[in-house]
Amino acid sequence: NTVLRRVDGYLQKYLSQKSRMKESFSDLWSARPSNSDGIGIDEGIFEPPRLLASSRVVGEKILCQRSLQMRDQQRAWQESPEGRNMLEFRSSLPAYREKEAILSAISRNQVLIISGETGCGKTTQLPQFILESEIESVHGAVCNIICTQPRRIAAISVSERVASERGEILGENVGYKVRLEGMRGRDTHLLFCTTGILLRRLIDDRKLKGVTHIIVDEIHERGINEDFLLVVLKDLLPCRPELKLILMSATLDAELFSSYFNDAATMKIPGFTYPVRTHFLEDILEMSGYRLTPDNQIDDYGQERIWKMNKQALRKRKSQISSTIEDALRAADFNDYSMQTRDSLSCWNPDCIGFNLIHYILCNICEHERPGAILVFMTGWDDINALKEKLLTHSVLSDPSRVLLQICHGSMDSLDQRLIFEEPEDGVRKIVLATNIAETSITINDVVFVLDCGKVKGSSYDALNNTPCLLPTWISKVSVQQRRGRAGRVQPGECYHLYPRCVYDAFADHQLPEILRTPLQSLCLQIKSLKLGSISEFLSRALQSPEILAVQNAIEYLKIIGALDENENLTILGRYLTLLPMEPKLGKMLIFGVIFNCLDPILTIVAGLSVRDPFLTPMDKKDLAEEAKSQFSNDYSDHFAILRAYEGWKDAEIEFAGHDYCWKKFLSVQSMRAIDALRMEFFSLVKDIGLVDSNMTCCNTWSYDMHLIRAAICYGLYPGICSVVQKDKSFSLKTTEDGKVFLHSNSVNARQTIIPYPWLVFNEKIKVNSLFIRGSTAVPDSVVLLFGGSISKGDNDGHLKMSPGLLEFFMEPAVADMYQSIRKELENLIQSK
Ligand code: CDP
Ligand code: MG
Repeated sequence: NTVLRRVDGYLQKYLSQKSRMKESFSDLWSARPSNSDGIGIDEGIFEPPRLLASSRVVGEKILCQRSLQMRDQQRAWQESPEGRNMLEFRSSLPAYREKEAILSAISRNQVLIISGETGCGKTTQLPQFILESEIESVHGAVCNIICTQPRRIAAISVSERVASERGEILGENVGYKVRLEGMRGRDTHLLFCTTGILLRRLIDDRKLKGVTHIIVDEIHERGINEDFLLVVLKDLLPCRPELKLILMSATLDAELFSSYFNDAATMKIPGFTYPVRTHFLEDILEMSGYRLTPDNQIDDYGQERIWKMNKQALRKRKSQISSTIEDALRAADFNDYSMQTRDSLSCWNPDCIGFNLIHYILCNICEHERPGAILVFMTGWDDINALKEKLLTHSVLSDPSRVLLQICHGSMDSLDQRLIFEEPEDGVRKIVLATNIAETSITINDVVFVLDCGKVKGSSYDALNNTPCLLPTWISKVSVQQRRGRAGRVQPGECYHLYPRCVYDAFADHQLPEILRTPLQSLCLQIKSLKLGSISEFLSRALQSPEILAVQNAIEYLKIIGALDENENLTILGRYLTLLPMEPKLGKMLIFGVIFNCLDPILTIVAGLSVRDPFLTPMDKKDLAEEAKSQFSNDYSDHFAILRAYEGWKDAEIEFAGHDYCWKKFLSVQSMRAIDALRMEFFSLVKDIGLVDSNMTCCNTWSYDMHLIRAAICYGLYPGICSVVQKDKSFSLKTTEDGKVFLHSNSVNARQTIIPYPWLVFNEKIKVNSLFIRGSTAVPDSVVLLFGGSISKGDNDGHLKMSPGLLEFFMEPAVADMYQSIRKELENLIQSK
């Protein structure tokens, strides 16, 4: 009865919605504005070249006027004192010396592959060479150059740099476009954008009309978007013989790319770096009086060695050792150095080397070494912050008159970003704690010392268990080279590797391309939205094709969530999802919020899932932080916790007490602000793709209905679902595919003893030794039955196991009929008629 009553409730709500929605979902689709891809592409570089177009219409006169204007502007800048200074700097870059050769190679070849040391001027100079020479050419600037970057922060900072090198305001000739943000205008001829933006553009404009040059930067990173883009471009090149494609990279397997593009031309910009002295862990320890020696060599793969501390040497020198290095060594458990084969390298955990060793080296450099900035490569944002906190508590390094401590990672805002390029005052040592973003994308000018922890937080994907894993993984030898190279740009440098040489010897030469180590759902959707035919066939033409199983898993997932039909065609829902630049599950939640008029809380939740976790847990105040978080745990939902936290902050903001609120509740002010901004962006997105009009009130009739919000979360996250097995004062979790799973410790549900609903839907499953689920919300049967999965998959075929009582209930023919018809109607509403 209770289930029926609930189902009844949903049915009534749904019917009341239906009468409101005059058009069906599919009518909405066909009526959407034609340029509505949510990225505002109706201006700027993606249009046919201005000058060419206007010359056809208005004649040569206007063409000449515009291009003369641009030429005059360019020349005036180059002759001004600042311009001359800038030109002097630019001409000191190795890329500048190759300018003519590069331009001539571009004009002779449709595809050109260019490599050169990081910092030699590829990203900032090459696109400029093309732009400048086009402006100076007789026919005027008819070029439209797109330069893609794997990361937002790089696209923004490079475009700023290039605009300032040209003495222009960003958004005129030079602009940028990243997801939900951009600066460009009608006259933008050089656009830096993320690879994702260009891919999205390809949905509506397969031929990239008007674009004259595509520069794909940082291809050595082998990101999934770049690999995908290359397949699409390879198909496009024969249809657009005048389109130029330039691939750029720091270190590069040029042969691989060249043969992929039918023996395309390659070019290397000769670089110069000063020698860099390398110190592996054993050298660092030896410098400080310790020794790490090979104790036992097992002749297996020639790599298996066991390193142990030479205890005798240690005892002998103990008296000479400073307490700091002792701390460092205590933190590092050297038994863990027992080296095995490459596969088991990840057993060794660099975190246990601990911050103490880094701290020791930093102090050592600050006290005894010559001037020069220090760059520390860490694995991620969390350990960067933790290390920063630790360093600031130490007197030597926390003194701002001696040390300028800065951080550099992918999600910092542009203000912090600019700080890393700042030169410190005389006598002040700059220390930058960075992720591998500083490896090739961002060049910090004055680095002389590099500390390399040897790891990177990498995603990997276990196709067999259909599970993404997020573990710090060892970097490749190529990356080591890159990191080391950062020390020798301005003068001879020093590089400290925080691992022994034998670990380095076992590193892979190259990092595995992302396409081989991530889930492929979004990629498959993109392939479908670009109408590229069979997913498997398309992916088989990639530079390196992913495992068949991984492809099948992704297709299966998209079918379960209702984005693809049985024949692998995009459904209406699927088409909408391709227009929303976010993971399919978040897109689904938004769409649900629109259809069921509870958009406001869904905007908050989706935004909250797109930013860094707003709940902070400082190491030394863990208990207090957890207690603060538990105040948000009433709804048995991490998603509701975000919602409540945001609403609390928003209320406090009205009284200008937002900061205070965050401080008391251990919330990140930055995350709150980011959620606030993203909410508006996402609202513009759903508006742009024609799902809502600008009137926000009517999308919110049901915004206070917690059951409906729970349903939206379930609709988005299914099939991420596990059953709750309650036992007295504890519970365990199970999924059909994996058996037992565990709650991530930062979930609000991890501190509960009873979960009042039989299911938890979750954001993601992560493999870290055991399987953990992150970001969960408890949901009742009725919600799962109505909003879990798609009806075509059936409801009990292994994806979902109902509790026996409920199953019996649903086997009753009358109930089953009614249920089926409600599901069908819901499905019709959500999909199409
Ligand atoms: O792309 P590549 O690594 O070859 O170098 P780039 O990013 O074009 O940078 C060339 C030079 O410009 C760097 O060595 C920096 O000295 C300088 N640069 C800068 O001062 N500020 C920026 N935001 C970017 C580059
Ligand atoms: Mg670059």
